[in-house]
Amino acid sequence: MWVLLSLVTCLLATSKASLIGRCELAKVLHQAELDGLEGYSLSDWLCLAFVESNFNISKVNENVDGSFDYGIFQINSHYWCNDYKSHSENLCHVDCQDLLNSTFVSYICLSQLCENDCVRIRGDEELHSVFAVFSRFGLLYSVRVFPNAAVARPGFYAVVKFYSARDAHRAQKACDQKQLFQNSPVKVCLGTRHKAVQHQAIALSSSRCQELANHYFGFNGWSKRIIKLQELSDLEGRENEDIVVPLEKQSLKFFCALEVVLPSYECRSPGVGIAEELLDKLEEGPLSFLMKRKTAQKLAIQKALSDAFQKLSIVVLESGKIAVEYRPNEEIPDTRSEELHNLIQVSCFSWEQYSQEEEDYLSDFALE
Ligand SMILES: *[C@@H]1O[C@H](CO)[C@@H](O)[C@H](O)[C@H]1NC(C)=O
Ligand SMILES: *[C@@H]1O[C@H](CO)[C@@H](O)[C@H](O)[C@H]1NC(C)=O
Repeated sequence: MWVLLSLVTCLLATSKASLIGRCELAKVLHQAELDGLEGYSLSDWLCLAFVESNFNISKVNENVDGSFDYGIFQINSHYWCNDYKSHSENLCHVDCQDLLNSTFVSYICLSQLCENDCVRIRGDEELHSVFAVFSRFGLLYSVRVFPNAAVARPGFYAVVKFYSARDAHRAQKACDQKQLFQNSPVKVCLGTRHKAVQHQAIALSSSRCQELANHYFGFNGWSKRIIKLQELSDLEGRENEDIVVPLEKQSLKFFCALEVVLPSYECRSPGVGIAEELLDKLEEGPLSFLMKRKTAQKLAIQKALSDAFQKLSIVVLESGKIAVEYRPNEEIPDTRSEELHNLIQVSCFSWEQYSQEEEDYLSDFALE
């Protein structure tokens, strides 16, 4: 039983005859640019066709589990195509009978291809529908769409994260059991508190902080003022003049101090950050040196900005009004406590901590 899907809906000039000649098939596969696809050569495809169907385009074979395999590559009805006989996930949205249609060379199948192309393309469509619907209720932290588990009915589910619990509540109320972008109603539930607490461990990047600030204060409602941007690498060099630092150990270090200013709230929050870029002795050209300098500066500023935002709590009141609280030394309050129900936490931790984790966390179908 050979799995999956197609890229090829390639016209085969001949006949209603169910058998296709080896050379003819080779020609068709070649024209369909399958030679070398996913690392499989033309002879692999021919071999597959021979083993699966003995070049019989019309071959249908019943499996012990009640599913059927169709066509020259024996594509299974349980997963990939719909034969309207047995349960099918029909991941590829195709009628199995079409795979026997002698004007098609059948759908060429590779499980990886379906994972990567078929499912992904559908996932992307769903993603944009979900985003369009839910972003009307407030700023979204992330949207992720996943195909259902193989044992479940074919389809997708999505995890939508709002910055604000209040927005999430409103969205859930408004959307649950409604037909949002398909014929059947969608079930929308709120995430459990347990997960929300876990999520708290993932820090906000400076770009997310800025996104929030733009959303709640407006583009002109806040600003950052750089107080000092200083290169530290120079200083260290001078201090340790006797010690020759090997070139491969050298790095560019920047320190940044800035403040985030919210004029209408009469609020200022200072932040500091240090960033380091290692110098590679192989690319010591002046241009690459300049680029690394720029990068180090930018990172230091981003870190300082995150640091400044970390001390700010944006409070969205039920009326929609916004208050800001500056908490310089306090621990980030525990979101489990009830009274913080509608609070937004802007919490940014150190650069090292979030740069990696956040990337890992958002995967395939994520829309940031
Ligand atoms: C091709 O497969 C179909 C369906 O399984 C079968 O009826 C037909 O006899 C086969 N043709 C040849 C030439 O084996
Ligand atoms: C094969 O598929 C083509 C395109 O969908 C269709 O026009 C044609 O009628 C089909 N032929 C058979 C024998 O099913």
